[in-house]
Amino acid sequence: MPALTVRSGQWPAERIAAAILVSAPALWLTWRAATDDVGGRAFVEAIRHTGKWAIYILLATLAVTPARRIFATGRLIIMRRTFGLAAFAYALWHAWLYVAAFGYDAAFIVRDIVNQLYLTVGALALAILTVLALTSSDRAIAALGSVRWNRLHSLIYAAGVLAVLHYLLRSPLNVSQPMLMGGYLAWLLGYRALRVITGEAGPWQLLGLSVAIAALTTLAEVSWYALRTDIDPRRIAMGYLTFDGQVMAGWWILGAGLLVTLAGWRWGMRPRTPAGTTLSA
Ligand code: HEM
Repeated sequence: MPALTVRSGQWPAERIAAAILVSAPALWLTWRAATDDVGGRAFVEAIRHTGKWAIYILLATLAVTPARRIFATGRLIIMRRTFGLAAFAYALWHAWLYVAAFGYDAAFIVRDIVNQLYLTVGALALAILTVLALTSSDRAIAALGSVRWNRLHSLIYAAGVLAVLHYLLRSPLNVSQPMLMGGYLAWLLGYRALRVITGEAGPWQLLGLSVAIAALTTLAEVSWYALRTDIDPRRIAMGYLTFDGQVMAGWWILGAGLLVTLAGWRWGMRPRTPAGTTLSA
C-alpha cells in the first residue's frame, strides 16, 4: 500500500507533531535570548539548556521503539527520525555555543577538549550523532542495506551512554539529574536486552525491569556520593527514605516504570505496525 509508505519527504500527522514538539524548546530559547531573559551569563545558560534538550530528545528517540511496542501504536515509528535529527541539531547548537563562547579560538578549544575528560566524552558523543545524522536519509539506508544500517544506528545507545557520562562528569557534586537521565537510559537498554533474551517483554518483565533499574540507580547515586564527594552516603540514603528537599532519582525511575507498566497493561502490549510503514520512517 504505497500511501502508507512513509519516506523522508512526506509529512504525516506524526511527523508534524514530532517537528512541533522538538521545535518548541528552540523557539523558547531563542525568545529568551532575544528578550535578554537569560542575564549576564547568557552563553553558560544557553550551553546548559541546549545540552539538556539534546539529552532529553536523545532519550525520547530511544524510547520510540519501546513505546510503540508497549502501547501498541506502530505509527510512532514515524516520529523517530525527526527526534534523532533534532537531538543531533541541539547537540550541535550546544557545541557551537561553546566554540563561540571561546571566540572560535581553535587551538584553545582543541586543547580544552583533549584535556578535560567530560569534554572529550561529549565530543565523542557528538561525533557519533553526526555519523548517524549523515546516514539517516532514505538514500543512505538503501546504500547500506537495512542490516548494516541497523547495526550502525544501534550506535545511538553508545551516544546516549557517552552523553550521560559527559553530564555526570560535568556536575560531580550534584548528580541527581545526570543519574536520572542515566536511569532512564538504563531502563531503555534493559528493555532492549529483555526483548533480545525473551523475545517479548510483558507486564511482569516490565515491572521487574523497573524495580531492578530503580534499585541500581539508587545504588549508583549513593555510591557516587560516597566515592566522589565528602557528603556522608548515609545522608543520601536517608534522603531516599525521607524525601527531604527533593525526590531522588531512583524513585522517579520506579514511578515512571510503574506508570509505563500499568499503561502498557491497559493497552495490551501488542506491537501493531501499519502495513507499508518502512524502517526508514
Ligand atoms: C563537542 C561536543 C560538546 C562540547 C564541546 C560540550 C560542551 C559542554 C560544556 C562546556 C558544558 C558545561 C556548561 C556549564 O555548565 O558551564 C556542557 C554541559 C552539558 N552538555 Fe555538553 N558538550 C558537547 C557535547 C554534548 C552532547 C553530544 C550532549 C548530549 C547529547 C551534551 C549534553 C550536555 C549536558 C546535558 C550538559 C549539562 C547541562 C547542565 O549543566 O545543566 N553535550 N557541555
